[in-house]
This record gives sequence, C-alpha cells and structure tokens, in this order.
Amino acid sequence: MPILITDPSDPRLEDYVSLTDVALRRRAEPERGLYIAESEKVIRRALGAGHRPRSFLMAERWLTDLADVVADAESHDVPVFVGEHDVIERLTGFHLHRGALASMQRPGLPEVASLVADARRIVVLEDIVDHTNVGAVFRSAAALGVDAVLVTPRCADPLYRRSIRVSMGTVFQVPWTRIDPWPGGMAVLQSHGFTVAALALSDDAVALDVLEAAPPTKVAVVLGAEGDGLGGTTVAAADVVVRIPMAGGVDSLNVAAASAVAMWALRIRDR
Ligand SMILES: C[S@@+](CC[C@H](N)C(=O)[O-])C[C@H]1O[C@@H](n2cnc3c(N)ncnc32)[C@H](O)[C@@H]1O
Repeated sequence: MPILITDPSDPRLEDYVSLTDVALRRRAEPERGLYIAESEKVIRRALGAGHRPRSFLMAERWLTDLADVVADAESHDVPVFVGEHDVIERLTGFHLHRGALASMQRPGLPEVASLVADARRIVVLEDIVDHTNVGAVFRSAAALGVDAVLVTPRCADPLYRRSIRVSMGTVFQVPWTRIDPWPGGMAVLQSHGFTVAALALSDDAVALDVLEAAPPTKVAVVLGAEGDGLGGTTVAAADVVVRIPMAGGVDSLNVAAASAVAMWALRIRDR
C-alpha cells in the first residue's frame, strides 16, 4: 500500500528535502549515493536503464498512470509515498507539476579505460558548471552517435535533476564517467589511440573544416567552461587545437552548441 505522508519533516522523506537548493543538492546527492528522477517519462527511462529506486513520491492521482511501477516497487519493498501537493511543496520546495519523483540509487561509474576501449568518438567536458549545458551536450551526443562522455572533477553532475531533464533522459543512455585527474588523465585517452582535439578560440587553431576533411580514426573533443574556456595546460597537452570559424562579429558559441557542431562534423559516417 502507498504510504500517505502528512508531515514534510518525516525522516523517511530525507531524500526529497529542499530539491530547489542547488548548492545543497549538488553536495548531498553524490555523498548519499542518490539522484532524483522527475516525471513519469524520466522515471521510466531510469528504470529502463536498470537503475534501482530507493523510493517514490507522488500526488495520489499519479498512482494510476504509474500503476505498473508502483506494483513493482511494492513487490520489492521500495516505499511509495503519496501526499497532497502542499505537503510535497513544503518538503521539496516546489510545486510538483510533473506529478512524480523517484529517489534512485546512483550507479557506480566505470573506469575511463574500460569506457573508451571500444569508442571512436568521445566528448570531454572540462569544468562546465551549468547543468543545462551538461544536459544539452548529452542530448546532442546521443543524437550524433558519440560513444562516451567524460566529465572532469569540477564539471556539473550529469545526474542532477536539471541535467537529466534537459538531456531528455539521454544521460541514462550515453555511457559516461568522471576523468580524474584532469588534464593528467588525457594521457589515458592518447594511450588508447585518441587524437585529443581541444576546442578553443586560439588564433593558431586549425579550422574544424580541416579536421572534418581528414578525421582521425579516434577523436576526443574537449570543450571548456562557459566563461574562461579551456585551461592553458589542457590546450598545451592536446594533440590539436580546433576552432569553429565564427561570423557576424560573434566570438564564440555556447558550449553545448559548439559541441553539437563539432560532433556533427566529426561524426562516424560508416555506421
Ligand atoms: C562560451 S565558450 C568559452 C569562451 C571563452 N571566452 C574562451 O575564450 O574560450 C565555451 C566553450 O565552447 C567551445 N567553443 C565555443 N565557441 C567555439 C569556437 N568558435 N571554436 C572552438 N570552440 C568553441 C570551447 O570549447 C569553449 O571553451
């Protein structure tokens, strides 16, 4: 039976406290080994990817739409909490328009070496701080046939609620892991035969068209932070520095847009 909640300070609901407090959630979710899936679609995609739920929280009317998920949860002793919208809002900090939340076990991350062993196209996100940008890169990566995404230690969490939503659930589909240390870990990519292409605005960079005309067999496209771009050590250690030619007096693209342009130009054409 679903568990009716009336008290937002109920300790069983700790996973869902203050979901709008980005600083708190950014720290607490990885520490506690969980992430939050929001909406029926995202919950189903997370379960479809084999991720395990810790609990569910929803307004009562969603028990019907999610009847199969609820039945499965209850058969595995996973609690299903239901409550009025105002109780959920006081707990989470927002009105639950999308109907349902799940607290999911955060899956363990694979080793970089095993993730890239059979890959030909990978994307590295260096210190991207905006969850929207991280989610948008994953969506493009899935759509453009990228084999894996690597995120540096200071990069925003692909499993944060907003990243998941913007990615349209593709963070569950595209293999990814953290690459640590960085940029030291770049050597692992090079030892696996990757040409590391740093996307940067340097004057001496080669135009993306040049790389597109003769693409290396294995390419790792490295993208930099929204404000500062790639670090100098990263650019120096890369095999090639690549620039997307700009027009109209605009100096750069948004990082997610730049990633899509580069992934499209360097896509594998024989799959
Ligand atoms: C908004 S840009 C950062 C701009 C930053 N001021 C700089 O000098 O790099 C974010 C990232 O997107 C990529 N990027 C954006 N426009 C680019 C372009 N025209 N050529 C190559 N990379 C680009 C780079 O990886 C960059 O680090």
